[in-house]
Amino acid sequence: MTRLGVNIDHVATVRQARGAVEPDPVAAAVLAELAGAHGITVHIRADRRHIQDWDLALLRPTVKTRLNIEMAATQEMVDIARQIGPDVVTLVPERPEEVTTEGGLNLIEQVDVIGPAMGELSQAGLEVSLFIDPDSRQIEAAGQLGAQAVELNTAAYAEAAPLGLAEWKDEFQAELNNLIESARQAADCRLRVLAGHGLTYRNVRPVSDIPEVEELNIGHNIVSRAVLVGMERAVRQMLEAMNGPAD
Ligand code: PXP
Repeated sequence: MTRLGVNIDHVATVRQARGAVEPDPVAAAVLAELAGAHGITVHIRADRRHIQDWDLALLRPTVKTRLNIEMAATQEMVDIARQIGPDVVTLVPERPEEVTTEGGLNLIEQVDVIGPAMGELSQAGLEVSLFIDPDSRQIEAAGQLGAQAVELNTAAYAEAAPLGLAEWKDEFQAELNNLIESARQAADCRLRVLAGHGLTYRNVRPVSDIPEVEELNIGHNIVSRAVLVGMERAVRQMLEAMNGPAD
């Protein structure tokens, strides 16, 4: 079975939009775990646009599966990781103006930054995963750097069929084949293989079927679905709060 890491950043995005206390990503983490999630993922960004430092402090003792913190390879973030002690740290590139993570790490150009950050994290006993594009040079570099795992960026695959599966589209098949080959190469390099970004209820299956892919990290589509499938209940509960139980 392919494991699922649920990214709860966008629960915090809704909270931060009002500077309120709800919805609480910690509560979302508990519910995701109760539903069977194998891990909880959060991205702490330099601009703190969604997840806050106190969320990490509360999530650490709350998460009973595996807590994965995504972060840029900066000293500030490495210090936070050492303090919180997640089960895994996923290093990602971060550009201040980006709407979401735009691509994988360039391990070849940024080896001088990534290498020392990995060294500090490993010394602190933390498992390190590297978010990279499905590119053979990047996978080779990840193996050479001594990462325990890579998370293959599925954005190009997801963008090849934005409305769902489109097996007949050459571009879709090419991106899927690239993920399949990249997963094989990463496993040959003795890296654990994860994948994520842009995965949806419609496009997830061909990726979860890749034998080497142990785990998927999915956020936006799950939180989007949760808002919709929860709407009817939420409105009923508000009417009940206003007027008492329905007749
Ligand atoms: N993996 C990484 C490294 C990410 O940065 C993100 C987005 O925060 C995801 C997975 C999840 O992507 P999505 O929200 O599109 O499911």
